[in-house]
Amino acid sequence: MHIDFEMLAQKYDTPLYVYDFDYIKNRYLELKEAFNGQKNIINYAVKANSNLSVISHLAGQGAGADCVSIGEVKRAVLAGVSKYKIIFSGVGKRDDEIREALNLDILLINLESEEEMKRVEAVASELGKIARISIRVNPNIDAKTHPYISTGLHDNKFGVEIDMAKRMYIYAKKSSFLNPVGIHFHIGSQITELEPISEACSIVADLAHTLKALEIDIKFFDVGGGIGVVYDEETTIDIQEYAEMIKNVTRKLDVTILCEPGKYMVANSGYFLTKVLYEKRNDQKRFVIVDGAMNDLIRPSLYNAYHKIEAVNKTGESSPADVVGPVCESGDFFGKNAPLPQLEHNDLLIVKSAGAYGFSMSSNYNTRNRSAEVAVQGSNDRLIRRRERFEDLIALERDYLEELSLKGE
Ligand code: LLP
Repeated sequence: MHIDFEMLAQKYDTPLYVYDFDYIKNRYLELKEAFNGQKNIINYAVKANSNLSVISHLAGQGAGADCVSIGEVKRAVLAGVSKYKIIFSGVGKRDDEIREALNLDILLINLESEEEMKRVEAVASELGKIARISIRVNPNIDAKTHPYISTGLHDNKFGVEIDMAKRMYIYAKKSSFLNPVGIHFHIGSQITELEPISEACSIVADLAHTLKALEIDIKFFDVGGGIGVVYDEETTIDIQEYAEMIKNVTRKLDVTILCEPGKYMVANSGYFLTKVLYEKRNDQKRFVIVDGAMNDLIRPSLYNAYHKIEAVNKTGESSPADVVGPVCESGDFFGKNAPLPQLEHNDLLIVKSAGAYGFSMSSNYNTRNRSAEVAVQGSNDRLIRRRERFEDLIALERDYLEELSLKGE
């Protein structure tokens, strides 16, 4: 789709997140279609992009939600996700979060340790409820991705080992306050080969068979997220093959497949639009200094992640430049040696593939207002989050200023 970035910059100012909502819808439908023939729910991983309008757009297509805090659960509910399609995952949950999740009667609470199971049981008993649970199994598989986003090894804090999982299921089956109905794994993000996922899937399916033999009725088989997307020119998982593999491995189990894609759904829907402030050169380097920064999009700084950067409506011979922001950290960059034409004040750049873990990981570091977010759909564009103002940033602090005169009182 053609997006008129110049018009958007004029209308909404920069830095700006722009999401192609048609793309998101197509991705959802493509995945849904691939699972055709098997009961399934696509539980969008809200952490990838938590904007209410993004969640609501997906909910409108029928998507569920995978959440990792009660805040995300509440976003999903507010955005119109059916409560029976909401999963609450995460390696540590507070009692009040568990209580609220039980009161909201969501589909599943996903457990990551025996201790957590006991907490959920205690809270459910206090409330006189039966908690529907699943258990995250750590299959000890190397997802072959960046170590910071790899989660399926025993080196990682996530999930429990097979034997422990089995013991937990047996305990849960006997409990009056727990109903073990799901099994889950998630071995990492940006996985570009099918093999680690299919290995994990087989290991977890074997456990599900064992559990069924013990009359523990697993109804939901959750394959996590992690489907790799194209940031550069990488080849990644074919979605048809992915879904076929899952259907095959779970064929004899009679389960509903839950799938928790984040990046797959939104990464390439998003563009981070930023304005050139100026160029700067020294004897070694060409820097393009822009008005966006690591507080807006931290993936390059944090994971050395590659995002393609393009100049908007600007041609001419390219030469390598580091695209950097105004934050006072050397790690504040969007790209190193990006081929770009000569740029001037107010020229526009787009940082691509910014729809996942872009805004949702942004911060106010350096007292920078977080960007606005815009949805583009067909030929329409609309604001889905207004730009922050200085007043927003200090709102939670100013009442505590000791010198009242500074508060303007
Ligand atoms: N399910 C669970 C239990 C997860 O922990 C995650 C992501 C997902 C699903 C969705 O994974 P996805 O399909 O988006 O790969 N900030 C990092 C990614 C962190 C992923 C954390 N967990 C990045 O920007 O690459």
